[in-house]
Amino acid sequence: MTILTNKNILLGVTGSIASYKAADLASKLTQAGANVNVILTNAAEKFITPLTFQSVTGHTAYTDKDLWGAEGHVLHVQLGKQADLIVIAPCTANTMAKLAHGLSDDLLSVTCLTSTADILIAPAMDGGMYDHVATQENLSTLLTRGVLVAGPTTGHLASGLSGKGRMLETSELLGHIRIALAKHGKLKNKKIIVTAGGTQEAIDPVRVITNHSSGKQGYALAQSAIDLGAEVTLITTPTALTPPVGAKVIHVKSVLDMLEALSNESADALIMSAAAADFRPKHVAKEKIKKRDGIPHIELEVAPDILKTVTANRSDKKRYKIVVGFAAESQDLLENASDKLKSKGLDFIAANDITSNDAGFAVDTNRITLLFADGKKEALPLLSKSEVAEKNFRTRCKIVGVICEFW
Ligand code: CTP
Repeated sequence: MTILTNKNILLGVTGSIASYKAADLASKLTQAGANVNVILTNAAEKFITPLTFQSVTGHTAYTDKDLWGAEGHVLHVQLGKQADLIVIAPCTANTMAKLAHGLSDDLLSVTCLTSTADILIAPAMDGGMYDHVATQENLSTLLTRGVLVAGPTTGHLASGLSGKGRMLETSELLGHIRIALAKHGKLKNKKIIVTAGGTQEAIDPVRVITNHSSGKQGYALAQSAIDLGAEVTLITTPTALTPPVGAKVIHVKSVLDMLEALSNESADALIMSAAAADFRPKHVAKEKIKKRDGIPHIELEVAPDILKTVTANRSDKKRYKIVVGFAAESQDLLENASDKLKSKGLDFIAANDITSNDAGFAVDTNRITLLFADGKKEALPLLSKSEVAEKNFRTRCKIVGVICEFW
């Protein structure tokens, strides 16, 4: 289950060379469990056929012939009404102009005028057309009316020129669609900080002390928070992962970097899923330590405990209404996690058994038990990391809701 599951997405495809990317978008949305209905404009049909969309979505792809067809007088009303979101990708300058001026001379524009669903457009056109004052004025009108706009981006254009007018790639559009669907989510107007990845403590300019954390759990948590409408800041160490669209991303390396990044941010909740170092080299060599100088003696010192530092300044709960920790344990899971819950002043902790093959670092599943400050305990079954994230947030929402009532 994701935020896309069972959502009715009405995908409008207009006449641009980028319309071939719309087939991929329709396919990915369908694979994610969305019901995708497609409307092609006349110009879109010059680039791509309804059959392409029918094949990937399993639904009829509509064209202007259907506007005057058997379902004629109700089709646009029905399509507009059932849509949770209208996505127009690619959206040409012409369709932007029609939307801005309330024209309704084809199935797509008349459906947009009928519908009360949010509209997300992904403009695609030549740079000159995008920059034209008429297009920019139409864009401002649409933005003022609350139309959501994803892109365009700068890059190679079909004209052979380079400029701003390129439609966003499918993965980015999917991210924007998730944000649009989350607009009225339970975490609307809530700011959440998620930390992710394993910290790196420098030994010299080349070497670091780090750990096996992949950042997957933190990135999944960040995506789940976005899916519930939160404004998310992801403080992450270097990972191979792509951050979720919509997250403000702060790149850090060490525990001290992470602490500094946190001190510059404020939020309603902090989810500390990063594997932060407990020890760091006391002295960082300015130059690369040479082999010829023999085996180095690296003296370690205790790294600051980020959670303890954060919760020590949190007595009035103004900074964070809720602080969540993770405990990765290889033995005495619940005892150790419970100690951390108390000593770190957390609202709840996700205790993670890293000894089993299907849980812990770098795998896509986790075996988690949630321990709460009030003594409650909830063992979760084996879940994908995004499901764990969702569960955390459902629980978190409940707790934030309770705390908010006291403010
Ligand atoms: N943590 C932290 N600052 C550190 C180390 C850990 O804030 N310097 C946080 C982690 O992000 C996690 C929680 O503390 O949310 C528990 O981390 P864990 O590594 O399980 O426990 P430690 O407190 O480091 O203790 P130990 O390694 O001895 O188990």
